[in-house]
Amino acid sequence: MSSTVVIGTQWGDEGKGKIVDYFSKDAEFVVRFQGGNNAGHTIVVDEEVYKLHIVPSGVIQGKKGVIGNGCVIDPLVLTEEIKMLEDRGVPLNLFISDRAHVIMPYHKLLDGAEERVRGSGKIGTTKRGIGPCYSDKIARRGIRIGDLLSEKRLRNRLQRILPSKKELFSIFQIDEPLHVDDLVMEYLDIGKDLKPYVRDTALLLDQAFNDQKKVLFEGAQGTMLDVDFGTYPFTTSSHVIAGGVCSGAGVGPNKIGSVVGIVKAYTTRVGEGPMPTELSDEVGHHLQKKGHEFGTTTSRPRRCGWLDLMVVKHACMLSGVTHLAITKLDVLNGLDKVKICTGYNLDGKKLDGFPSAIEDVSIVEPVYEEFDGWDDFEKPESLEDLPSQAQSYLSFVESFLGVPIHVVSTGPKRDETFVIDS
Ligand code: GDP
Ligand code: IMO
Ligand code: MG
Repeated sequence: MSSTVVIGTQWGDEGKGKIVDYFSKDAEFVVRFQGGNNAGHTIVVDEEVYKLHIVPSGVIQGKKGVIGNGCVIDPLVLTEEIKMLEDRGVPLNLFISDRAHVIMPYHKLLDGAEERVRGSGKIGTTKRGIGPCYSDKIARRGIRIGDLLSEKRLRNRLQRILPSKKELFSIFQIDEPLHVDDLVMEYLDIGKDLKPYVRDTALLLDQAFNDQKKVLFEGAQGTMLDVDFGTYPFTTSSHVIAGGVCSGAGVGPNKIGSVVGIVKAYTTRVGEGPMPTELSDEVGHHLQKKGHEFGTTTSRPRRCGWLDLMVVKHACMLSGVTHLAITKLDVLNGLDKVKICTGYNLDGKKLDGFPSAIEDVSIVEPVYEEFDGWDDFEKPESLEDLPSQAQSYLSFVESFLGVPIHVVSTGPKRDETFVIDS
């Protein structure tokens, strides 16, 4: 089958940007199918660093980028990102679904207000309006990209939507104007800029499959942020798992070939919510510093901890992961001992799967396997170039999950990557 899905198996920031860029060289289309500009995907090409939030990472390799219907798009951010890429000489071949939902200014204000009201129970969202925009989509009061191309449609929609937003503004004490005319003017203008890119992307992908073109689906966030299977309610608002491709890009399940699960060699999380293997000691601090673990989107420090295979096992099951890509192995270099979580105990009992209740996730006791650490290594080009302890670490991960490791990443650059043919 000619398609590959790349998904994050943890809490996001696994290095999807780098791995998608790596796989893009063999693809014709690279497709985002969920999320919005809460994502921050980094691609390093020689001395150039690109941080993409909504445009698919494959455009850096000159591939056709598709933003599917399952995404939520802040057109202000998108137009800025398009401009940034054009200014940096990246040729853009972009297609945007007319069915994708639009993040409006009121979504961003409401995201911030809801977080404020949650107080100490806040989710720690990116405040990019993601939750409120997906809520409106599901409640059937959203604005879609296609609506930005017609004054009549946009005006009709806003006339129906704004009265309830005004009421919410007054409840949340948001003192910002909300005028149909102003929004129509501003967003029709943006619609004009975006029009050349807008189309029925499901149809486009259907044609691509009929023509035997290679398609790569680029996940955003990570499985533990999936709205159904993540650490709910400390999740994002979309379907992050591979199944999200079907509804988020309009593609039948029979079109999905391989599923690559990206696994950071340790665990990070940005935002609130429990993380069973979190380390608040020296080692956690070391991982944060050595791994430059600061959010690509919000610059917040990421919480760090040992690799949690209960999390990754959950992700492999949910997405039918066929191959693993291990990233940031180099960040573990120089540690005396490294640990991997292989199970959770709850009330003295070993759990079979990842618990659904957040209260349980907060109190599970991780069970660890300890490994000898290894010294720094120089750009390895194969498994055999790694220190034997690092090889044992990877081999344990592979056999525990029962999924082969296909790619190992040992640095942010393209050439700091090697493939294992199985
Ligand atoms: P994404 O959201 O999954 O695309 O990941 P981010 O781009 O938010 O964060 C991953 C960070 O790690 C970026 O700064 C990457 O350049 C960097 N990175 C990716 N792979 C590696 C690696 O193997 N080693 C190191 N040291 N850094 C990496
Ligand atoms: P990439 O694609 C890491 C987190 C936020 C917050 C929660 C909900 O770069 O891996 P939201 O704004 O989506 O309502 O926030 O989800 N979050 C991410 N964490 N990487 C991401 O994306 C994330 N996108 C959202 O920090 O905890
Ligand atoms: Mg990121």
